[in-house]
Amino acid sequence: MADQIITISDKAAGKSFDYPLKTGTLGPGALDISSLYRDAGFFTYDPGFMATASCHSAITFIDGEKGVLLYRGYPIEQLATKSSFLEVAYLLLYANLPTEEELNHFEHLITSHTMLNENLKRFLSGFHYDAHPMAMLCGVVGSLSAFYHESIDVNDPRYREVSAHRLIAKMPTIAAAAYKHFVGEPIMYPRNDLRYGANFLHMMFATPCADYEPGLLAEKALNLLFILHADHEQNASTSTVRLAGSSGANPFACIAAGIASLWGPAHGGANEAVLDMLEEIGHVKNVAKFIDKAKDKDDPFRLMGFGHRVYKNYDPRAKIIREVCHQVLEEFPGASDSPLLELAVKLEEIALSDEYFVERKLYPNVDFYSGIIYRALGIPRNMFTVMFAVARTVGWVSHWMEMMSDPANRIGRPRQIYHGPGVRDYVPISKR
Ligand code: CMC
Repeated sequence: MADQIITISDKAAGKSFDYPLKTGTLGPGALDISSLYRDAGFFTYDPGFMATASCHSAITFIDGEKGVLLYRGYPIEQLATKSSFLEVAYLLLYANLPTEEELNHFEHLITSHTMLNENLKRFLSGFHYDAHPMAMLCGVVGSLSAFYHESIDVNDPRYREVSAHRLIAKMPTIAAAAYKHFVGEPIMYPRNDLRYGANFLHMMFATPCADYEPGLLAEKALNLLFILHADHEQNASTSTVRLAGSSGANPFACIAAGIASLWGPAHGGANEAVLDMLEEIGHVKNVAKFIDKAKDKDDPFRLMGFGHRVYKNYDPRAKIIREVCHQVLEEFPGASDSPLLELAVKLEEIALSDEYFVERKLYPNVDFYSGIIYRALGIPRNMFTVMFAVARTVGWVSHWMEMMSDPANRIGRPRQIYHGPGVRDYVPISKR
């Protein structure tokens, strides 16, 4: 079917220009204005990319109005209940669910790349004892390019695939090593006989003196959280990875850039901020005061874990996590988070009936409940965003691979509306 044509008129100049409306399989079309500057001599202005599609992609689809999330066409609710994280990783990377043989092979490939070069331990030990694990993750992942320097050829699809496997495999090892540095315990080697999530818990909580046997529920909860966080279309960190990669930069540097972007409290850093906020609120009786603060335009406070650029309905991931939160807290009677969950549920209830939040369609997002689960599993707060990064690495490398094999890929280079001084002459320092 031919593209629909949309005409843009420059009435002052008495000119009009035709542009094709590109459509995909699902979702709204996008006006292809790539020749606008050449045709009309001006740019488009869209801060925050509120109305800009930056690429074609076949990986993830979101319908924010209806609260729908699909990975390669499969609803997130089905994957969350039926799949494993590595199966989802295969799906995101290779576009289809694997056969049993393909999955076994993929799991073997990933487990055979879990170890770190021993020199990386020295790199890690150079960090200050209380360095934030996200700072360590960012630095160590970037430094991987130094370890695989010889084999970096981003134009070779085989190399790209191996790098993607390395990143998915090593991310939990690096994340757990950053945690061990933080708590002052020896870094644990990965165990290739364990599944992805169980191995991660082993590297976090075992010591050379004591094994750690993760319970099935802990592994199941981790598997679920990783699936829910695995990809989310062109979010800030994924777009950062794509932009970094568009220049031909190596994948380790690109993923380090993605980690940096994820860290912010408006993005992946929100899960840590939610727990800080719940503790600050402290008691159900204080909820109304904090809701008022969130509504006050003169107060920078926002309800963390609320609102989303794309979802104008309940975030489907938050719905799933909310259910599991109750199960996890019931199964971990030692976890002291039940009061926090009660507080979160109350906060959600009050916010969802408040006109301010209703009018702006502000619903709980994926980060609202995830921290409560992580804490119940014994994962410390400064590791929450690191956990998000481990899972999202799958999405980042899938997008990077998709972009690198797209013949339409060109360096990302936005323009600006310049507000600085006009041309002026240099004045010698003695005359200023
Ligand atoms: N609390 C109070 N007011 C809010 C909130 C909030 N959490 N989020 C948005 N608003 C208000 C905002 O003040 C604005 O009001 P008005 O129209 O009167 O100026 C309106 O809602 C629209 O907000 P926006 O900032 O223009 O929306 P955005 O699409 O640029 O921002 C967001 C989306 C997620 C950054 C924002 O909702 C937010 O800061 N939420 C809290 C942080 C958070 O939970 N982030 C995690 C996002 S989901 C996981 C991820 O992406 O990693």
